[in-house]
Amino acid sequence: MINSVIIGLLVVVCVFSSELKNPKSTNDKISRIVGGHEVDIEKAPYTVSVQGCGGTIIHDKFILTAAHCTRYSINNGSSVRTESNYRNQGGNLVKIKKIIAHPLYSKFSWTDYDISILELEEKLNFTKKCQSIGLPRQNQNVEDGSLLYTYGWGVTQNPQEDSNKLRGVEVPKVSQSSCNASYTGKITDQMICAGYTEGGKDSCFGDSGGPLIFNGSLLVGVVSWGYGCARPNYPGVYARVASVRNWIDSVING
Ligand SMILES: *[C@@H]1O[C@H](CO)[C@@H](O)[C@H](O)[C@H]1NC(C)=O
Ligand SMILES: *[C@@H]1O[C@H](CO)[C@@H](O)[C@H](O)[C@H]1NC(C)=O
Ligand SMILES: *[C@@H]1O[C@H](CO)[C@@H](O)[C@H](O)[C@H]1NC(C)=O
Ligand SMILES: *[C@@H]1O[C@H](CO)[C@@H](O)[C@H](O)[C@H]1NC(C)=O
Repeated sequence: MINSVIIGLLVVVCVFSSELKNPKSTNDKISRIVGGHEVDIEKAPYTVSVQGCGGTIIHDKFILTAAHCTRYSINNGSSVRTESNYRNQGGNLVKIKKIIAHPLYSKFSWTDYDISILELEEKLNFTKKCQSIGLPRQNQNVEDGSLLYTYGWGVTQNPQEDSNKLRGVEVPKVSQSSCNASYTGKITDQMICAGYTEGGKDSCFGDSGGPLIFNGSLLVGVVSWGYGCARPNYPGVYARVASVRNWIDSVING
């Protein structure tokens, strides 16, 4: 009885402290991806920084990011920073022309369909530091345990890792069922989870909107939310790009 009351309380605490990897939580003094390493933008040239969030180049005029970023932080006066290792200096700034959030975002929750498309004012010129990445087919599966990579300028939780440079970390794909069990049924088909059971490696606050990459060639997720960062048994949760591929095509093809 007492045990079940305690478990009930824990569940309530966990559910209510699950957080969007919201740029508003970014603390400039403790930055970035947890448990990762510095990477050069040439290794992940599809990664961009935009108003405290990450984003991914999917076309020479379109960027994919998180819908909670376009709700709380990015607006139509924001610019996307391409070709830079740094969140807020260097590279090339390109103005946003239009923000298109997924039409089902916020219909059911603030974490479901957490995807927005940014249309740019001008076409990007692709270089070694600025490239688009491929998208999975509608509902293309990613095998559980596949090693995925995520990149960003968010919180590292380690004062020794406090440069302002882009970081990356590898995280294995976690099954929908075990992720759903960790998050007490809050995982939908529009989400994909990745992380280590023992924790220690994860995306974190300020990485929101950034890429989750399979095989160096496909954008399978967008950094979205989690219970804290890198905690054991609480993998990072990403918006599942394969669940909205057809919608992305319809926006890009006008
Ligand atoms: C940009 O945002 C402002 C304020 O939300 C709005 O009034 C304006 O119409 C928007 N402009 C475009 C081009 O979407
Ligand atoms: C791409 O190159 C053209 C020609 O040099 C230039 O006018 C344009 O501003 C460049 N686009 C971006 C996004 O930098
Ligand atoms: C997660 O569990 C809930 C509650 O059982 C269920 O409604 C939902 O469909 C599950 N999600 C997935 C992706 O299976
Ligand atoms: C991984 O990418 C390589 C090319 O970069 C491709 O030949 C291979 O088919 C891809 N593997 C999977 C499982 O998609």
